Formats: sequence, structure tokens, C-alpha cells
Amino acid sequence: MEITGKTALVTGANRGLGLQLARELRDRGAIVYAAARNPASVDLTGVTPIALDVTDPGSVAAAAAATGDVAILINNAGSSTGASLLTGDLADIRLEFDTHFLGALEVIRTFAPQLAAQQRSAVLNILSVLSWVSYPNSGAYCAAKSAEWSLTNALRQELAPQGTRVSSLHVGYMDTDMARHVSSAKSNPADIAKIAIDGIEAGDAEIIADEISRQVLAGLSSGVAGLYPQLA
Ligand SMILES: NC(=O)c1ccc[n+]([C@@H]2O[C@H](COP(=O)([O-])OP(=O)(O)OC[C@H]3O[C@@H](n4cnc5c(N)ncnc54)[C@H](OP(=O)(O)O)[C@@H]3O)[C@@H](O)[C@H]2O)c1
Repeated sequence: MEITGKTALVTGANRGLGLQLARELRDRGAIVYAAARNPASVDLTGVTPIALDVTDPGSVAAAAAATGDVAILINNAGSSTGASLLTGDLADIRLEFDTHFLGALEVIRTFAPQLAAQQRSAVLNILSVLSWVSYPNSGAYCAAKSAEWSLTNALRQELAPQGTRVSSLHVGYMDTDMARHVSSAKSNPADIAKIAIDGIEAGDAEIIADEISRQVLAGLSSGVAGLYPQLA
């Protein structure tokens, strides 16, 4: 997939990984829509800020109507409530699914005709190592990222006939606001953005951005005993 000259749209492009993805696409010669709930918060030259709240179908439709030739769509917007599935606030659990699952789905469904009109097009869903392994203190987030992984696998089959490749990016902690309370090692989101766009260029279905994601993917075949040894 050639990036230069293509039109790309990134959700949640005003900060964190989304901002770095918009910058990387711009630097590789794409025409970039930097979508954000508050487009005035996009502080990046050479891109076009556009309003888009992934949980508001009217806002998604307005963004699609205002664009028209998007060939690369990146579903990056994300929430992280830290809600436990057992004891967390149901509103927080719903927010995780509204953002990561229904939000990404709404964006893909709405932009699918635009993507189909391009000779080649790509969707990249920013997932996580937590699509594959869950932690009780962020069960709602993990479940939503897991559901988004399943969505990715279904839609890559449904969108293939129209020439749209669907990829997922899996990564552990990155040094963004979302992981500001985490003291473990974190990747630089600018490095992850480069890996992500390299993956789109190469047409990779699954972009594994770091060692923890590689290890957990390899461990999936070991089942519950391998992934959750503390339960033994
Ligand atoms: N940070 C990590 O350790 C990590 C690890 C693996 C995967 N990820 C994933 O990477 C992606 C980017 O996360 P990040 O680390 O860059 O987080 P971040 O710094 O907290 O940024 C989150 C972005 O999502 C936007 N957003 C949230 N809800 C939205 C909505 N309803 N509509 C539109 N935009 C919305 C935010 O916009 P506002 O400024 O308006 O709030 C912000 O731009 C997410 O999908 C996240 O799940 C993160």
C-alpha cells in the first residue's frame, strides 16, 4: 500500500499515539485528516483537523460527508476507565464497548463506501496485547479490546472483496496519557506509529509492535494454564 498521495483519517489524533500516527502519515506524504472530538485541540501543522466523536453516529456521518476520498482509515480513539467487570461502574463498562467496539464499528461502516471507491484501501484498528490477555483491574478495557479484535477478523473478510485490507496493531504499554499511571517500561508512541505505518505499507494483517505482544501471541496456544499461571 503506497502512502504518498493517499488520503488518511486518524481518530483521536489530537494526542497520544493518534497524534504520532497523523504526524507519521503526513511525513510520508499522505493527505491527513486528524479527527478529534475537539478539532481545535489538534496542534500539528500540515494536517486537516476534523470533528469526530466515535460514540456519536451523527458526528461520524458528518466527518464522512466532509471528506470523500479516504483510502487509509485508522481507528485509534480509545478510553481506559480501569473498570473491573465484577465491581466496576456499568457506565464505564459501556463506555469501553461504545468507544473500542461500537465506535470503531460505526466508523468502519460509515467510511466503507469511501474506502471501496479507492483502488486500494486500508483500515488499521489500534488494538493491544490486552486483546489477548486480561487483567482483573481493567477487565472492561480488555474485553472491549478483545471484542474489537474479533470485529477486526470478521471485517477483514467482509471488506476484502472491495479491496480494503484490514489490519490490527498489537502493543503493550506506550508512554501516553492513557498509561501515565504505569511505572513499567513503555514504548515511545512515535516509534509505534512508524511500525504501524510500515505495517500498512507492507499489507500486514497483524502488526505486532513489541516483545510482550509477540510473547503473548505465541502463548495463546498454551491456553489458560499458560496465560494465567497464577491460577494453577
Ligand atoms: N497507552 C497504552 O499503553 C496503550 C497500549 C495499547 C493500546 N493502546 C491503544 O492505543 C490507542 C491510543 O491510545 P493512547 O495511548 O494514545 O491514549 P490517550 O493518550 O489517552 O489518547 C486517547 C485518544 O482517544 C481520543 N478519544 C477518546 N474517546 C473518544 C471518542 N469517543 N471519540 C473520539 N476520540 C476519542 C482522545 O480524545 P480526547 O482528547 O478528546 O479525550 C485521545 O485523542 C487506543 O485505542 C488505546 O486503547 C494504548
